[in-house]
Amino acid sequence: MIYRQSMTEHAPGDDARLPQRRNIVTEIPGPASRELFARRERTVARGVSHVLPVFVTDAGGGVIVDADGNSLIDFGSGIAVVSVGNAAPRVTARVAEQAARFTHTCFMVTPYEGYVEVCEELGRRTPGTYDKRSALFNSGAEAVENAVKIARHATGRQAVVAFDHAYHGRTNLTMALTAKNMPYKDKFGPFAGEVYRMPMAYPLRWPGGREAAATEALPTVKSLIHTQVGEDNVAAVIIEPIQGEGGFVVPPDGFLPGLAEFCAEHGIVFIADEIQTGFCRTGDWFACEHEGVVPDMVTTAKGIAGGLPLAGVTGRAEIMDSVHAGGLGGTYGGNPVACAAALGAIETMAAEDLAGRARRIGEIMLPRLDGLAEKYPVIADVRGRGAMLAIELTRPGTLEPDPATTTAVAKACHRAGLVTLTCGTFGNVIRFLPPLVIGEDLLEEGLSILEDAFAAI
Ligand SMILES: Cc1ncc(COP(=O)(O)O)c(C=O)c1O
Repeated sequence: MIYRQSMTEHAPGDDARLPQRRNIVTEIPGPASRELFARRERTVARGVSHVLPVFVTDAGGGVIVDADGNSLIDFGSGIAVVSVGNAAPRVTARVAEQAARFTHTCFMVTPYEGYVEVCEELGRRTPGTYDKRSALFNSGAEAVENAVKIARHATGRQAVVAFDHAYHGRTNLTMALTAKNMPYKDKFGPFAGEVYRMPMAYPLRWPGGREAAATEALPTVKSLIHTQVGEDNVAAVIIEPIQGEGGFVVPPDGFLPGLAEFCAEHGIVFIADEIQTGFCRTGDWFACEHEGVVPDMVTTAKGIAGGLPLAGVTGRAEIMDSVHAGGLGGTYGGNPVACAAALGAIETMAAEDLAGRARRIGEIMLPRLDGLAEKYPVIADVRGRGAMLAIELTRPGTLEPDPATTTAVAKACHRAGLVTLTCGTFGNVIRFLPPLVIGEDLLEEGLSILEDAFAAI
């Protein structure tokens, strides 16, 4: 029997329904979560694993409440999804209203306004003032698959260029685009062809260091594309403006604009994968805006719909509309309830200036992370933008990754009631993705827990 120590009485849409405080009443995970985990082990495939096996009963604002009544601080947002907060009032209200009217017709059978409204918002909000079209899907990977399909169709070319440390999903084509073998690709091949991987402008790890990354990375990539692929064979270059799963790698200024310019010169579709960075996370609506980069196509998901599954591909009208009628779609893509959620989430971001909140989160977090780095030489780098921040851990004075300390710190945070995530090609990055609506006291408390975790190792 699963019990809940602190049943919260609340009406959907009431954002004051959950006390915004950490409250740990059992060990983490507690007995109720462990009991559920035992059931999970008997029924759920092992390949689907967990960062922190506490079973959630409620979540809102900056807290997650588990089956034992523990209230944890959320620095993960369900991997950059609930930027507007969990069960955000405008999202739940629109979802409830839409779900009570109709839940599905299939946009390809009989359309509805919500889908069109989301595409209008995407057209308005994504970088670039050119004429745009969008198509909606269910997941980030599906959006990336479709972006590549469309780019190939529009250009009549096949090659796709992706980068070291990239993450674009877990379907066959997106596994091919994703760089890291374990756990994403190992023994899941063969993978889709015509994918070419280029070195990433990774300031900490570029041979020769940060300055060299800024001056050498772009010419190196251009030269490799020229010699190994041939510009005229390339349908698309796809890149995350700040890499997500690969370690929150922020390329040096000039790299993305230079890449976009190179693509424009050669008729290559420049795809910005803003699935993790988009929708206010980095302090702008889209991370590309930071340097005024205008992609030909943008993929979106995660933050777009406050937790409901929705993804989009938005691009130049002439590229998007090169595809014949019936060439794009899917049964559930742009589901009306997910579209209602997206409209509620986008409304929240605009009304509450969540891009500004992301910048404010960065202003609070960065000095404390820098302070940690000064104190603990195991932290080799502090990076990110807005509310997408990370620290990379190495053996002091070297670039040798330290995944063991990374895991130890993350686990200490978990035990103290702070949900943190790790990432990075070498598993040595702790990333911070708090909901953009998190209270500043919770944010500060979460950082104190992180500091305690470092002090304890
Ligand atoms: C940049 C990026 N692209 C694509 C994906 C895949 O999205 P999904 O998990 O919704 O398929 C992710 C997910 O983490 C991502 O961060």
